[in-house]
Amino acid sequence: MRTSTGQATVDEEIVISVEKVTKRYGKQTILSNISFNVKRGEIFGILGPDGSGKSTLMHILSGILSIDRGRVSVLGIDVIRYTEKIKRDIAIMPQGLGISLCDELSVEENIDFYSDIYDVPKHKREENKNNLLKITRLMPYRNRLTRKLSGGMRQKLALCCTLIHLPKIIILDEPSTGVDPLSRRDIWIIINNIVAKMKVTCLVSTSYMEEAERFHRIMMLYRGNLLGIGKPVEFMEKIGSPSMSHVFLSLSMAFEREKKTISVRDIFKRFHGVLERRANREDEIVVDIKELVKDFGDFRAVDHVTFSIKRGEIFGFLGPNGAGKTTIIKILCGLLKPSKGSGKIAGLDITKNKEEIKRHIGYMSQRFSLYKNLTVRENIELFGGVYGVYKKVLKERMRLVLELSELKGKENHLTGDLPISMKQRLALGCALIHNPEIIFLDEPTSGVDPIGRARFWQIIYELSKDIGTTLIVTTHYMDEVQQCDRVMLINEGIVCALDTPLNLRIQMKKEVGKAFEIPTKDPFSIYEDARKMNLNVSFYGKNILIYSKHPEVELKTLENLYRLRGQAFHDVRERDAPFEDVFIHFIEKRAQYAKGSKENLHSIS
Ligand SMILES: Nc1ncnc2c1ncn2[C@@H]1O[C@H](COP(=O)(O)OP(=O)(O)OP(=O)(O)O)[C@@H](O)[C@H]1O
Ligand SMILES: [Mg+2]
Repeated sequence: MRTSTGQATVDEEIVISVEKVTKRYGKQTILSNISFNVKRGEIFGILGPDGSGKSTLMHILSGILSIDRGRVSVLGIDVIRYTEKIKRDIAIMPQGLGISLCDELSVEENIDFYSDIYDVPKHKREENKNNLLKITRLMPYRNRLTRKLSGGMRQKLALCCTLIHLPKIIILDEPSTGVDPLSRRDIWIIINNIVAKMKVTCLVSTSYMEEAERFHRIMMLYRGNLLGIGKPVEFMEKIGSPSMSHVFLSLSMAFEREKKTISVRDIFKRFHGVLERRANREDEIVVDIKELVKDFGDFRAVDHVTFSIKRGEIFGFLGPNGAGKTTIIKILCGLLKPSKGSGKIAGLDITKNKEEIKRHIGYMSQRFSLYKNLTVRENIELFGGVYGVYKKVLKERMRLVLELSELKGKENHLTGDLPISMKQRLALGCALIHNPEIIFLDEPTSGVDPIGRARFWQIIYELSKDIGTTLIVTTHYMDEVQQCDRVMLINEGIVCALDTPLNLRIQMKKEVGKAFEIPTKDPFSIYEDARKMNLNVSFYGKNILIYSKHPEVELKTLENLYRLRGQAFHDVRERDAPFEDVFIHFIEKRAQYAKGSKENLHSIS
């Protein structure tokens, strides 16, 4: 069933009921006296900072974990006692880029494998598979081995596998983490579609706060406590914030202040000299890459890429999943051989001086790069040892890393047990332990909550401005893009744009005109109507954004569409383009230029 907005309608029938649930690990309470209900057809969000208990709760609901107190019933069945009975009706997609997949099977074989497990009827298999492959843009890669997919492509494949048997309840633990903005929009359209058509109930956790506005209802968790439950708009009204990002930040800031964290700036001041500063000769080029090409068989992953980076720059790599970002980074780190092209890193030739280069760089890979079953201290010592850092220096740097990652006093904790934001800061600490000139960070903040991401970026900033380190960072969080000195946008291995974030915005404005924002109660259908009229629109939360070179004409057309939908057209406000739209603009521009006839990137919506 669908409303005119394309959003799912919600029944009153309760399908998940959680009563006074408490979960402990040893002495530590992970969830404390949690109660809530979820109705059939709801898209229900679980929000909270890292380590607040989101994944634990999801595992309890799917019968993977037991509880210490309380009752959990799913579709009327006590999941703790009768887990087997609900297995077919519930599907969980665990956190982590496609960890539930079989690496040695192809994309299609993985989906078929899940069809087998869940006994999907023969006549439904192909139809479901084709729909899901199309919607996730994985169709061209159906025969590719899963281990050869990019991080985001893996995540989308995992989503296909979770949905293939069309379960009654789906639990998605951070489904859009590591997924590019374009595909994130698609994933939300998929979720809305299946919820609307199949009356599926959907529980989702996310670290993208902009997405929180897309949920019917949300619950906020803090340190295992339920902070509140309700519609996103109710939270926004209560806190007096214009967006869920603000709600989350203001709630968690209060919580963080309580913790008395020391600022990153102060830590760098206190440890002055522990990382020797690099003289910043004006405009000194430290990365200089020319016409880089990488072919995997007859597939070209990187296509004549040329760029250079100055010392101390924060340089962002952006692009859709599978664009070639990780491949370029791996070539620059000496982990992959380029097919063609040349380049220098810290003055050394990328093809001839691979081993030498490794001493000048630090690398944090897209998949977690530390040893999970070593303690915090052991990981730091291991990296220090590999890079030959002297014992005395290592001791000082270890203290710095522990402070930066807020792990002082937790030296003997197992790395695998840490919340993700601490893990990622520790991984950064290990990548900088030998104070390299250049650090490559491949999606370092993927899945980290906004507070953790802010702290991570403060470290990046201090390294760049205080120590003179050059940082190359990939990200799918558009708010992080503004913190880069320059960004390079890549799609299908080709550079689509390279400039400062501000200049890219200015260039886009020249090309598509001014941006106006107009509120509406029904953004999805107005958006669909407007695209049919060839207006250049997007939607964010409860606002439509229109780009126009002739606002006097196009705003009138949009106003008519609002009227036809019975919506008031008021509070028209000119604004800057959100970076997500800048990203999509340059990607689409290049795609249309390169393949005029190929399917338009927007056709899916
Ligand atoms: N070993 C390999 N063999 C074949 N193809 C590969 C191999 N490694 C990567 N690819 C392909 O190269 C392309 C670029 O992948 P890459 O991992 O660089 O993308 P990415 O931009 O980092 O994407 P994401 O944002 O999802 O991390 C993808 O189509 C991927 O499937
Ligand atoms: Mg990648």
